[in-house]
Amino acid sequence: MTACNGTDMAGMSVNSFAALSLEPPLVLWSIRKESGSLKIFQEARHYAVNILSDNQVDLSNLFSKGDEDKFSKTGWFKGKLGAPLLRDVICTLECSLENTIDGGDHLILIGRVKHYTRYNGTPLLFYQGRYGVANDLSSIMNQTEAEKNASFTSKYNTHLSLLRRLHYVSHLVSSRFNTQRQELNISVAEFRIYSWLNSQAMSKQELQACIYLSQEEIKDALQEMENRNHLEYITNEKIHLTNSGREYAMFINQRVKSFEAKMIQNIDKKDLETALRVIDNLITQAKNA
Ligand SMILES: Cc1cc2nc3c(=O)[nH]c(=O)nc-3n(C[C@H](O)[C@H](O)[C@H](O)COP(=O)(O)O)c2cc1C
Repeated sequence: MTACNGTDMAGMSVNSFAALSLEPPLVLWSIRKESGSLKIFQEARHYAVNILSDNQVDLSNLFSKGDEDKFSKTGWFKGKLGAPLLRDVICTLECSLENTIDGGDHLILIGRVKHYTRYNGTPLLFYQGRYGVANDLSSIMNQTEAEKNASFTSKYNTHLSLLRRLHYVSHLVSSRFNTQRQELNISVAEFRIYSWLNSQAMSKQELQACIYLSQEEIKDALQEMENRNHLEYITNEKIHLTNSGREYAMFINQRVKSFEAKMIQNIDKKDLETALRVIDNLITQAKNA
């Protein structure tokens, strides 16, 4: 969301945006009452919605910071109603501020869409504490396995970036594993923490860096695991699994292994070795980039 009150500009990443009405064309989003940007959004009387594309995670992160001089670090231009419009986004909606409604610790800002522009691209999503892209579930569900493969290959074959392929496969494989995880009655965060702590003791910060989930989710997971007596804190703030925690982690590991074995059963052994080598190579390159 971006706005300008005549002198100052404000911009912030939000995911509370929603369509509200077609006739008249209204949209809404909510802003934290304590946000440093609230005053500008109220004074401006206009705001712009900038829908980010899947390669704009950095931009989203930039606009989720408080004091940063965000607009000097990215391309933008002044829109018809005065709000700054970000470059290379996939859609912009320029809105007049129609109404505001109290919403607890947030203020709901209803906007009337006055102008819009749409470009091609895949929207960036944020769910369960991480970024992602949407998959077309209804069309995928109505297809046979062969059709799925064919449509995936023809749709993505030529220009699908490596990153999109990696996203897609990671999303598909982990959603297949979700059924098993739900049977175990553990959260995604717990699942990942058991796997990491199984091999080493780690601090909360170290876990945060490799688990890619929100602090809140990690905190809740650690609490659950502590209640099960699966965790203990050793000196220098490292967390490690207790004996029963380690046993449980091994049990989960077995489930993962048999799931993976089924998943790869039809892949040629040589192809698999090559794929693993390429992935390891990519990890090393990305780490050193
Ligand atoms: C993916 C994502 C979604 C967010 N959604 C909202 C939101 O709906 N409303 C909100 O007030 N803040 C939201 N935030 C947080 C704001 O971006 C952040 O608090 C703000 O940019 C910080 O600057 P400020 O406090 O000066 O406004 C979100 C952040 C991210 C990364």
